[in-house]
Amino acid sequence: AERKRALIAHIESLLVRENAVLVAHYYVDAELQELAEATGGCVADSLEMARFGRDHAAQTLVVAGVRFMGETAKILSPSKRVLMPDLDATCSLDLGCPADAFSAFCDQHPDRTVVVYANTSAAVKARADWTVTSAIGLDIVAHLHARGQKILWAPDRHLGAYIQRETGADMLMWQGSCLVHDEFKGVELELLRQEHPDAKVLVHPESPPSVVAQADVVGSTSQLLKAAQELDASCFIVATDMGLLYKLRQAAPAKTFLAAPTAGDSASCKSCAHCPWMAMNGLEGLAVALEHGSGEIVLDEALAARARVPIARMLDFAA
Ligand code: 13P
Ligand code: SF4
Repeated sequence: AERKRALIAHIESLLVRENAVLVAHYYVDAELQELAEATGGCVADSLEMARFGRDHAAQTLVVAGVRFMGETAKILSPSKRVLMPDLDATCSLDLGCPADAFSAFCDQHPDRTVVVYANTSAAVKARADWTVTSAIGLDIVAHLHARGQKILWAPDRHLGAYIQRETGADMLMWQGSCLVHDEFKGVELELLRQEHPDAKVLVHPESPPSVVAQADVVGSTSQLLKAAQELDASCFIVATDMGLLYKLRQAAPAKTFLAAPTAGDSASCKSCAHCPWMAMNGLEGLAVALEHGSGEIVLDEALAARARVPIARMLDFAA
């Protein structure tokens, strides 16, 4: 504990020395979330992280999250330095959608508007007309559908199917999924709801349809947090990465939050739902990155300029 306190104090002084700000996602360790808040950074969903990094005056952004979040920060702020505690922190959606195969898929369907989830590489975004996050995907696709556009959607099939059901849009789908959210189980969730009949169910839309169908609220991490604070209920069942549980319990200490069941659950493992790549972010890596400027996101400028177009469209739409 003594060592950890010293490490945190060291990071705080490095943030000042390097004119840096910490931009963290809700799925990283609680100690990183606390540090971000204590030092004037942010803890947010991927949409807010993008906005915060773009608008902050600091010359260095330290992104505690997964690689696409660091890339988005760099794309939006090419003149800033963007560091990550571990550059190998990827995402199963990004891994499951390689740029060359995706580009070939787009070539086969030139009549469709290409909409990609933020959880993709810069190269995939460079091929897209729009980028969306879970917080705004539904509104953007509804907007495009109302204008008669047919959509090519990638990569998360569950988020895509949810948006398709809600909007009725014509969506051709890439078949990716998130290895964390794909594990939530509909039947087991029904059983848990029977034990807690008054509980409200909060679901991230990367979860399978059998889970989304039981939701009282479907939304991004920030939207689920807001709903938990606002809804008049004392018990919630939460289908998203357990990193958010820390924040939920902090924001609404009088309420009870139960993790939704996953296939890996056993008596000793009530929620195995934690992203292995988010878990790669730690205090040590953060200190090393700030100390030595390691873990820097470097992107080809022409590629970044192309990827900026669909991201800027999203941010303009959201504004
Ligand atoms: P949010 O945009 O809701 O933060 O989601 C990002 C993510 O990776 C969810 O798994
Ligand atoms: Fe990607 Fe899933 Fe991890 Fe989010 S939780 S970063 S979608 S693998």
